[in-house]
Amino acid sequence: MSFTLSALKQATTLSARTRWMPMASPMIRSLQTSASNGMASAAEQPLKKEPLYKTIEIYRWSPDEPTEKPRLETYKLDLNACGPMVLDALIKIKNEQDPTLTFRRSCREGICGSCAMNIEGGNTLACISKVDRDVSKPLKIYPLPHMNVVKDLVPDLTHFYNQYKSIEPFLKQKQGPTDGKENLQSIEDRKKLDGLYECILCACCSTSCPSYWWNQEEYLGPAVLMQAYRWMIDSRDQFGIERRDKLQNKMSLYRCHTIMNCSKTCPKGLAPGTAIAEIKLMMAKE
Ligand code: SF4
Ligand code: SF4
Ligand code: FES
Repeated sequence: MSFTLSALKQATTLSARTRWMPMASPMIRSLQTSASNGMASAAEQPLKKEPLYKTIEIYRWSPDEPTEKPRLETYKLDLNACGPMVLDALIKIKNEQDPTLTFRRSCREGICGSCAMNIEGGNTLACISKVDRDVSKPLKIYPLPHMNVVKDLVPDLTHFYNQYKSIEPFLKQKQGPTDGKENLQSIEDRKKLDGLYECILCACCSTSCPSYWWNQEEYLGPAVLMQAYRWMIDSRDQFGIERRDKLQNKMSLYRCHTIMNCSKTCPKGLAPGTAIAEIKLMMAKE
């Protein structure tokens, strides 16, 4: 009797959730039929998997205890009771084991860049990184490297954003359209922005760049330089020369030594190292 009621509840919830859909899925139809018949087959019940415990080691530091050194804290998590991604694991630990664990996240689908962190030695996005189901080794999670830490996995990106602001990441024109119409762009010119505009400013690339680690006060780093390039090659922008002039010094651009860590690590598959090389080429020609 209790199973029949729960199947009925589930079917009600599912049909309410999917009311907007043109057709209920076969699974939902089957649940609805079973519930209305007062019967449910064993095959419709979700299989309960054996627990699969993985050790997760997470960097912890709090400004509330400024004299305490950072440490790695160990958690055990049943991977069979958790979503597949590293962000799912972090959220589960925070919800069920340790509400003090601090990290940023928003979109959970690789769009906002908030959940950038160092996972298993590489900078990437927690929401699109799968937890390795090999439980013989721990999963290690640190904040983005060589940045000041606000708390736990949250890096201080103030300087990074100020650097982004410094390149004036917006359209600049000396003379806009005089006929009151829009700034038109050909399909070919628009295509030149592909591979650049998709950047989500997660800072994974800049914080994987050795030159940025050692010179970040003055070197702009790959993420910001790629955005500078994005505006330089926008056919509607009229300040390319001035934008390049601002980079004409020892530090802002030329600290890039083409090591290419940046392009290897970008979770969006972009190539900031190549964009930097293109800027250097343009400047060499001028
Ligand atoms: S280039 Fe890639 S790694 Fe760098 S900030 Fe943009 S999305 Fe992130
Ligand atoms: S290519 Fe340039 S920006 Fe990219 S990691 Fe190497 S030094 Fe840094
Ligand atoms: S939560 Fe938005 S990119 Fe991961």
